[in-house]
Amino acid sequence: MALLLIAPDRDTSDLERRLRRLDDGLDLRCWPDVGRVTDIVFALAWKPPEDAFANLPALRAVGSLGAGVDHLVDRPDLPDDIVLTRMAGPRLAADLAAYLVAMTVDWWKRLDEQRHCREWRPLEPRPTPRIGLLGTGTMGRAAAQAFRTLGLEVSGWNRSGAACDSMATSSGDDGLARLAGRSDALINVLPLTAATTGLLDRALFERMPSDSLLVNVGRGDHLVEADLLAALDDQRPGRAVLDVFAEEPLAADHPFRDHPRIVVTPHIAGRTDPAEAARLALEQYRSIRRGEAPAGRVDRTRGY
Ligand code: GLV
Repeated sequence: MALLLIAPDRDTSDLERRLRRLDDGLDLRCWPDVGRVTDIVFALAWKPPEDAFANLPALRAVGSLGAGVDHLVDRPDLPDDIVLTRMAGPRLAADLAAYLVAMTVDWWKRLDEQRHCREWRPLEPRPTPRIGLLGTGTMGRAAAQAFRTLGLEVSGWNRSGAACDSMATSSGDDGLARLAGRSDALINVLPLTAATTGLLDRALFERMPSDSLLVNVGRGDHLVEADLLAALDDQRPGRAVLDVFAEEPLAADHPFRDHPRIVVTPHIAGRTDPAEAARLALEQYRSIRRGEAPAGRVDRTRGY
């Protein structure tokens, strides 16, 4: 049995080294050197090429090399009986939380406006922000904890209505509108599914307080781009921090680039840590070999 790594647009050399160090008997293959296809029972993938799984007759499971599985769920080369897993370890969650805190504090304390100041002209920070988190899973909870450490009030929203012991949580369209209305910083960490596509739209922006902050680290397709551009003209939100885009890399002439109210980062908010990824992938691989349900299993009908 073998584990296949397919991540053509990433440098996986560190991950490969760590996987081999953790298990010196591991039969690890790296795309496109698949070897005997009947050996492959688990594929660890990030944005795999089309049809990458089409000729793997012994494949039992595919693991996302990140927290998101939207790049895997609807693939025609993955039959329904293939198990999907994701990686949402504490290291990745902490990394994402650090980005969210950094971007929120930058806006709150007006650090960007004071950083390159030639005059000595201290600015008052914005009022202490109330944080609204769209998504209350592993990533949302880690972010909530980080914001609470700063003494900030945090509320959450999710689609499922699941209660969450780390923050007050609402769900449904009304809950979403209410949360948008009382969040000075509204942060999206939701998984991308049919139900959440286009969630960040005009109706939501109209609810947001004036001069508020929107942060999107979910997926680009959560956002209706034209609605955001219009909303920024009305200062609701007053700033958008975007790390994910419908088309990546973001085109050089995209209107988000050089927009005075938009901060663009190149999909770096939560990075898969090779040490954590190697440990979690091996755990998943061992469970799959034993015929057991792996940790991080995704509900394919729900899409996360
Ligand atoms: C990053 O976008 C991830 O899904 O881990």
